[in-house]
Amino acid sequence: MRATIGTMKVLGIETSCDETACGIVEDGRTLLSNVVASSMDLHAQYGGVVPEIAARSHIESIIPVISESLIQAGCTWPDIDAIAVTYGAGLGGSLLVGVMTAATLAISKNKPLYAVNHVEGHIYANFLTETKLAGYKLPVKQPEFPLLGLIVSGGHSQLVLWESHHHYRLLGQTHDDAIGEAFDKVAKILGLPYPGGPSIGQKAVSGNAHAFTFPKAKVPGKYDFSFSGPKTAVLRATQQLIGEDHQFPSSMLAERLSESQKADIAASFQRIAIETVVDKTLQAYQEFQPRSVVIGGGVAASPELRRQLAARLPIDIDYTDPKLCTDNGAMIASLGCWQLQAKFDPVDPYTIDIQPNLSM
Ligand code: KG4
Ligand code: ZN
Repeated sequence: MRATIGTMKVLGIETSCDETACGIVEDGRTLLSNVVASSMDLHAQYGGVVPEIAARSHIESIIPVISESLIQAGCTWPDIDAIAVTYGAGLGGSLLVGVMTAATLAISKNKPLYAVNHVEGHIYANFLTETKLAGYKLPVKQPEFPLLGLIVSGGHSQLVLWESHHHYRLLGQTHDDAIGEAFDKVAKILGLPYPGGPSIGQKAVSGNAHAFTFPKAKVPGKYDFSFSGPKTAVLRATQQLIGEDHQFPSSMLAERLSESQKADIAASFQRIAIETVVDKTLQAYQEFQPRSVVIGGGVAASPELRRQLAARLPIDIDYTDPKLCTDNGAMIASLGCWQLQAKFDPVDPYTIDIQPNLSM
């Protein structure tokens, strides 16, 4: 095993939700490959991820995805120094497929195995600053410490402060729904396709973001969030709009709304949800004066989030490509590289276990 940064290649496997993904990264910063097979289409008809369908589709896709990732990187197994895998947080059945595959490969190919926290991994997408792959727009330089990280995805909404690699403290998180989850649920109310974040973003373009005043949730923790209240406010406002009471089924609302009403609700909800995370990011920036602010997770791809952050934060954010905001194996490989470089002990592939409720 080569142990100094500058020479190492790590293969990262990610299967925590509905994306089967594998990426190869050199030195923690050079993206060599990024292959993602999503089962999103299979879940779209249900308006959210169905765990059993996700797990089955990981089983079907994992080996072809890993093989494709090696081909894209121009690598064969002897070129790979270590394997990194997401072991939590995520759906149990989905995590198991990635972890068992990674453990089996670590044993059979004789590679050290690193267990990676998915949420931490999202931030490491921002350390990918070089690639020869076509179609990626990466940050121009490495993020600097202290680093303020905003993680906004379908399962997480967190503000985290890193003093250096691997040394961080959780400033706050959601008390209930994650922001992406709230987008997905509001999209369902409006009859917009899954995943909700992008479809609400598109619908919002033709809407008035001030047509409705949905309340921002008040939570006790200074940097904590809550999105279930605003989501319920959308439900109630929509029922009222069509002259029905709270007993009217949410599944029948969309057909009674006009396209312009849907657009106004989408724009107003998006504005308030994004403002909520930007308010607290700005507050944390002012308190901790980080040298870099980075964002990660599916909602980090949102143009509205990027617009509001640029308008309000007194620091430029070097955004990564939207393809690296949603779940991918490259971010896991990047964090694996930095763990290898920091001489973390590899995990035992015979005893590695999943942690579906892993926190930061
Ligand atoms: O990070 P991710 O791929 O999976 C989790 O770890 O949860 O995030 C998925 C979430 C979904 O809720 C989806 O609606 C949201 O990210 N999302 C977006 C965008 N793309 C995905 N939200 C806003 N704008 C986008 N472009
Ligand atoms: Zn994620």
